[in-house]
Amino acid sequence: MAEGQKPLIGILVWRDGFKFSEPGYFRNLIRAGNRLGAQVFLFSPMDIDTRMRRIRGITPTDTGGWEMRYYPWPETVIDRHRRGGSGYSSIRNSKLFTYANNKFTHKWKVTQMFMQEDSLKRWIPETVEYGQNNLMNMLRKHQLLYIKPGNGTGGSSIVKVKSIGSRYEVSGRDLRQGTRRAILHTKSGLMAWLNHWTVSQRIRNGNFMIQQGLNLDLVPGRVSDTRLLIQKNEEGKWDVTGMGVRTGPVGSATSNLHGGGRAQPFNELMVKSFGAEKAASIRNECERLAFAVVHFIEQEFGSMMEYGLDIGIDTSGKVWLIEVNPKPGREIFKGMGNMELYRKSIERPIQYSMYLARKLRNKEKGVEITEATDEEM
Ligand SMILES: Nc1ncnc2c1ncn2[C@@H]1O[C@H](COP(=O)(O)OP(=O)(O)O)[C@@H](O)[C@H]1O
Ligand SMILES: [Mg+2]
Repeated sequence: MAEGQKPLIGILVWRDGFKFSEPGYFRNLIRAGNRLGAQVFLFSPMDIDTRMRRIRGITPTDTGGWEMRYYPWPETVIDRHRRGGSGYSSIRNSKLFTYANNKFTHKWKVTQMFMQEDSLKRWIPETVEYGQNNLMNMLRKHQLLYIKPGNGTGGSSIVKVKSIGSRYEVSGRDLRQGTRRAILHTKSGLMAWLNHWTVSQRIRNGNFMIQQGLNLDLVPGRVSDTRLLIQKNEEGKWDVTGMGVRTGPVGSATSNLHGGGRAQPFNELMVKSFGAEKAASIRNECERLAFAVVHFIEQEFGSMMEYGLDIGIDTSGKVWLIEVNPKPGREIFKGMGNMELYRKSIERPIQYSMYLARKLRNKEKGVEITEATDEEM
């Protein structure tokens, strides 16, 4: 790519015709790109023409539609493909592009890695694979358990199990975000109910995990947790863009916004629950946790661009890491009414990709200069 030309950034996405999984976000992302002086387009695995070394790229029109045309090879690619599939995997496993975000892995594997990592393990709830013996053990140890898919997202297929005396209260979200409830009076009844759940609600043959449940009812009867967005900035450095609290509907096992959760500023709920001083130290711990997480992930998986962390702050003020999302949403900031943060969270991936493209151009220039010198000698 010649100097002076705009950085060319491709966003790898799933599409079916002009149907996208996050059309609003993609429009905003491309608009932000244009504003910041980059050229940004969407493409999916079927749009790559390796022979002609060109890509069919898609951009929004001014009238709310989409248009398509060929672009040269992008200098950097942001992977925002949120569905699996063989077409996607083979592209992702190839060396066709320079990605802003390296490949990551699913929840169960990551949780296991975090549990074994000295710099992180104090923040990780005890987690084991779903199975009869593990369930019996975990029931003895914890009054509250979460059973969730090892490859889940968006709060689906998650069940909360609460032991009350000799009975078990079960509440969950099925694959379609419907709420499910049951009361089981025996261990074997619970086991049978969960066995059925882990078969009927599983995602693409994935396994389930059993996790120590956290008391997240800072608001009585509801689950509240924290979403923290950490992103690389225009200098390629990690920075916490913002945090917010999500609070689920009364009686819901999850707080996810998809499942009807509400967003509010972090300090609002934390100061009310713990006072200003403790709220500040909790916030600080969340940030330290976030930096430790991305540091570890990059060491294991290579360079990344952004992560959305689900953090549980229990009723005693202890901080726990529930989940790390490699392709996080930004709705939390919109939900909080903080449009400034929302805008920043969308601009940062573009700014970081522009930084990357600049770095690559300089590297190419560097190589050329060295070669020229060699020839002269
Ligand atoms: N161990 C746990 N203790 C308490 N609440 C939990 C636990 N695990 C999950 N949750 C609740 O369920 C929500 C969804 O769980 P999460 O692991 O983030 O799955 P997903 O990928 O579906 O978002 C969390 O945001 C939190 O509200
Ligand atoms: Mg989550």
